[in-house]
Amino acid sequence: MNDMADDQNQMDNVFVDREKELKLLNNEMKEVLGSNGRLVLLKGEAGVGKTAVAKEFIGRCSEQGFNVL
Ligand SMILES: Nc1ncnc2c1ncn2[C@@H]1O[C@H](COP(=O)(O)OP(=O)(O)O)[C@@H](O)[C@H]1O
Ligand SMILES: [Mg+2]
Repeated sequence: MNDMADDQNQMDNVFVDREKELKLLNNEMKEVLGSNGRLVLLKGEAGVGKTAVAKEFIGRCSEQGFNVL
């Protein structure tokens, strides 16, 4: 693998900050636990980190035993 592809793979495993967004998502998740459904829209410019936040959140959900579809 070339160095640039290697660097990109390394970066894909790094996740920084976004505590505010993750806390908000976690609060919504608590409502789901109370049997109320929730729909959350992640909105922002291209490249701002929507997919990264979603991946981090679903990873945390999986770790907590949620069945992520
Ligand atoms: N919180 C973060 N920590 C580290 N890297 C991030 C973070 N948010 C985004 N990135 C990186 O920035 C780039 C664009 O993020 P991405 O989630 O694909 O944006 P979007 O989905 O909003 O277009 C990706 O390479 C991603 O890994
Ligand atoms: Mg995206």
